[in-house]
Amino acid sequence: MGTTVDDQRGDERGGYVHGYSRREADRLGDQADALAALLHDGTAYPEGSRVLEVGCGVGAQTVHLVARSPGAHLTAVDVSAASLDQARARVAASRPGADVRWREADLHDLPFSDAAFDHLFVCFVLEHLPDPRAALAGLRRVLRPGGTLTVVEGDHGSAFFHPDSARARAAIAHQVALQAAAGGDALIGRRLRPLLTAAGYRRVTAGPRTVYADGDRPGLARAFTLGTFAAMVESVRGDAVAAGLTTPADFDRGIADLRRTAAADGTFHYTFFKAVAVNPPVSRRAGAGRGGPGRG
Ligand SMILES: C[S@@+](CC[C@H](N)C(=O)[O-])C[C@H]1O[C@@H](n2cnc3c(N)ncnc32)[C@H](O)[C@@H]1O
Repeated sequence: MGTTVDDQRGDERGGYVHGYSRREADRLGDQADALAALLHDGTAYPEGSRVLEVGCGVGAQTVHLVARSPGAHLTAVDVSAASLDQARARVAASRPGADVRWREADLHDLPFSDAAFDHLFVCFVLEHLPDPRAALAGLRRVLRPGGTLTVVEGDHGSAFFHPDSARARAAIAHQVALQAAAGGDALIGRRLRPLLTAAGYRRVTAGPRTVYADGDRPGLARAFTLGTFAAMVESVRGDAVAAGLTTPADFDRGIADLRRTAAADGTFHYTFFKAVAVNPPVSRRAGAGRGGPGRG
């Protein structure tokens, strides 16, 4: 789950819509920690297996991958050198001696040989890509036949809450529209299964992972409703106003209404989707056009 962060333009933003500020890094870390049990449940890789985390960002998920698969050989890539530096520091601080190799690379052009990995893990990355199906199909090159791909994405259409608020819904819709205008899809969670199937994966299993916060879960309301979701929507304020989608006053009222749902008598619902799929063996005919020379 990401954000268009309007206060980050001065940073190493490149083509990535979210920016790379310290605030965004903290948000991603808080999000990953709050959701670790929900999102990482069922993901543990065998000792000695070769695992690639694609788009590791600041290492927010990497620390959880390492914790759950201490014997795996993990490689983590991202296009942002600054994020990789933060990821390195985060993992060194929380898991000293962890077996992680870091590489600055674009997932569309990975510097690894064919079938270099047994498992791939991709979290909150596809939502930013203009052609996620092509990206998923391309990742198959570095995944050995029979190896697995695990994908986690959110879906902002799954956000509903009490008290309901048209202004809060409008603020969320602005975030969805801005992400779409940047070539991404904040509603991608519901598409994981068809995307993976279309990209050539087999034995695809996809399912919802729901966050529900209410007065009995004040910690979750703080960490997720306020610290993750409302913070993410709030961060598009400048872009939404600049695009003429809203006024500062209307947007701020929407955010206030969204934050209101974290009170003791409020409720908040959001669903992530997690999918696991297998890279099928390359048939002789299909293999004629796939792959290319190995690298790295
Ligand atoms: C929202 S962050 C998620 C980071 C991390 N997976 C997490 O869950 O905290 C998306 C990350 O994808 C990276 N990214 C975007 N496009 C990429 C590409 N073409 N190749 C590699 N990384 C990419 C960004 O640099 C960013 O770090």
